[in-house]
Amino acid sequence: MLGFHDINKVFGRPPNAISVLHQVTFNIRHGEFCAIVGPSGSGKSSLLNLAGLLDRPTSGCITINGQPIGTMSAAALARLRNRLLGFVFQSFHLLPRLSVWQNVALPLQYRGIDLPERKRRAHALLERLALLEKAEQSPARLSGGQQQRVALARALVGSPRLLLADEPTGNLDSVTAAEVMALLTGINRQEGLTMVLVTHDQALARQCHRRITLLDGRVVEVTS
Ligand SMILES: Nc1ncnc2c1ncn2[C@@H]1O[C@H](COP(=O)(O)OP(=O)(O)OP(=O)(O)O)[C@@H](O)[C@H]1O
Ligand SMILES: [Mg+2]
Repeated sequence: MLGFHDINKVFGRPPNAISVLHQVTFNIRHGEFCAIVGPSGSGKSSLLNLAGLLDRPTSGCITINGQPIGTMSAAALARLRNRLLGFVFQSFHLLPRLSVWQNVALPLQYRGIDLPERKRRAHALLERLALLEKAEQSPARLSGGQQQRVALARALVGSPRLLLADEPTGNLDSVTAAEVMALLTGINRQEGLTMVLVTHDQALARQCHRRITLLDGRVVEVTS
């Protein structure tokens, strides 16, 4: 489903260039639930941004469903991102001027789905995430954990094939974190959605099929 082959990522230019990913290679199979772990600054978000087609590697090849993305145009990448990928950002990126349900429905608007259908699908997901009563509010008035679930609903609303989530339980208390994790494992099992989850939480990482450990931008361990 997702392949990284000898990926290097350098930010900036000499003499201020910093190299954040070195020769990163791994493959994530269809239906797999994979955790990316590693200390702060080890390159986890940088890696996920590349996987989410939000950034391009300095060198190396990324494949999605066997197709190298390096030669695709920006428009083709945007289409692939909208159709195939769901992304939960470490810092949510919710729009305060839109209501909760409008935030959730946003990816469907980019696909040209009509308003009643957008509203129906957004509300169905909010119900699943126990947020239905917040549907009409601005996300700015929600707690961190609630905003995190709205961001998750937005990532799931388009029925993606690959969910990329950067610390989706990072701001949650342990009970809510366990609930979100149970929801994710349920979706992974029932719908076979491939998931890549960045987490600091070793207990959550152990619930995944596989763990990829980063240290200083290098893959130091991949469990089988
Ligand atoms: N746009 C950027 N420009 C320059 N340096 C960057 C940029 N983005 C990230 N970095 C640097 O790359 C390194 C890896 O950052 P990254 O955000 O990928 O780490 P992380 O593993 O996600 O950390 P955390 O667990 O704290 O979220 C850090 O040293 C960071 O300062
Ligand atoms: Mg990060």
